[in-house]
Amino acid sequence: MRISARFIYAMVLILAVVTFGLAGPVIAQDVTDNETCMECHADTERAAPADPNMPQVHNPEGGFFAEAHEMWSCVDCHTGVEEIPHAEEIEAVDCLMCHEEVPKK
Ligand code: HEC
Ligand code: HEC
Ligand code: HEC
Repeated sequence: MRISARFIYAMVLILAVVTFGLAGPVIAQDVTDNETCMECHADTERAAPADPNMPQVHNPEGGFFAEAHEMWSCVDCHTGVEEIPHAEEIEAVDCLMCHEEVPKK
């Protein structure tokens, strides 16, 4: 019997569905755990905010400029991230969730 490419494709697809379909809920990642984010973001550089009057939150070398920010979950600020993988573009952080006015440089 000649095994067609289409047959192999179908088997791979079924295998993928079975493997990931069942494993999916088990490996669902906890977005409130910063370690989840750091798996991908440990070494990424942080660009300055689009608004030049706003102080930068992330230190480009890792960590935060304001020590007080270290106690928060990434998703306390990045509320747009609700699951992994997340969207490519995430809404900007709203400082007013915690500050009375937008901090200025
Ligand atoms: C599986 C890898 C992966 C994980 C886990 C991950 N990210 Fe990302 N994230 C990316 C990639 C890839 C990009 C796009 C490239 C970049 O900006 O680094 C990105 C971009 C971002 C951006 C910038 C989006 C924009 O609009 O420019 C933010 C903010 C972000 N991620 C937050 C988070 C947070 C918070 C978590 C944890 C809850 C997280 N990410 C977990 C891969 C990941
Ligand atoms: C206090 C709020 C706050 C917390 C907490 C926070 N971020 Fe951010 N994040 C920001 C802001 C504001 C920006 C826009 C750039 C800047 O000001 O540094 C940003 C930008 C980013 C970007 C995009 C960087 C770029 O250069 O495009 C990524 C990725 C990111 N944050 C990941 C994370 C991860 C991972 C955590 C948790 C370890 C986290 N953030 C915690 C406020 C926060
Ligand atoms: C999840 C809550 C949260 C968010 C969102 C948040 N901050 Fe903060 N930030 C705090 C807390 C709490 C402190 C320490 C108390 C204070 O100074 O108000 C602080 C302190 C600071 C400080 C140092 C103290 C000061 O006021 O000079 C700066 C600068 C700052 N934040 C900038 C920002 C900027 C810019 C944004 C939005 C891009 C932002 N924060 C968003 C919680 C937050």
